Amino acid sequence: MSEQQAVSQDTGSPGHIRRRTFVGATVTAGGVVIALPLLQGCSDDQETRLGKDESTVRLNINGAEHELTVDNRTSLLDTLRERVGLTGTKKGCDQGACGACTVLVDGQRVVSCLTLAVMVDGADVSTIEGVARDGTLHPLQQAFIDEDAFQCGFCTPGQIMSGIGCIREGHTSSPEEIREWMSGNICRCGAYANIVAAVARTAPSGA
Ligand code: FES
Ligand code: FES
Repeated sequence: MSEQQAVSQDTGSPGHIRRRTFVGATVTAGGVVIALPLLQGCSDDQETRLGKDESTVRLNINGAEHELTVDNRTSLLDTLRERVGLTGTKKGCDQGACGACTVLVDGQRVVSCLTLAVMVDGADVSTIEGVARDGTLHPLQQAFIDEDAFQCGFCTPGQIMSGIGCIREGHTSSPEEIREWMSGNICRCGAYANIVAAVARTAPSGA
């Protein structure tokens, strides 16, 4: 096979943008630069077995192991909601601006709408469905009730997951600090004062 033929088979006709190239460039343009090397890292064998744009992802979600075949472009949020059936994590803006989709990945707060499932292969994921223990609410869940920290409740799962992260990170020395470190979580109902109170109430005993 000539060098020209080999190049032609790999890239298609001159000026032709392959689907994977387009997807990689699109994702990079959206700021999720890690996705491109991940896409490039698929072997030809894996592509044949899984389909050109698919990967197998293993996640431990709230202590349960899941192995899923996902489109490489599927967000962690859509994976949780539509593939695993965990609809407690909410989709607000779907573009990283509201925090409604916040979950913990290996203990770190992330907005799951901007996180591709393939980016977190092998990770431990915690969602709102997993924070209660043996029928007892997580202390921060209870504090949200006690402090009347929600109205419609749509932002609440994200607020609670973010609040757990905020407490574990130690950013709770004052209401101002809590506000700052919870500022990525928007509440359209304006329950901010109560949310801060709930986080402050829970902080001394840890999360
Ligand atoms: Fe993810 Fe708004 S839905 S930040
Ligand atoms: Fe309604 Fe926060 S309680 S958006």
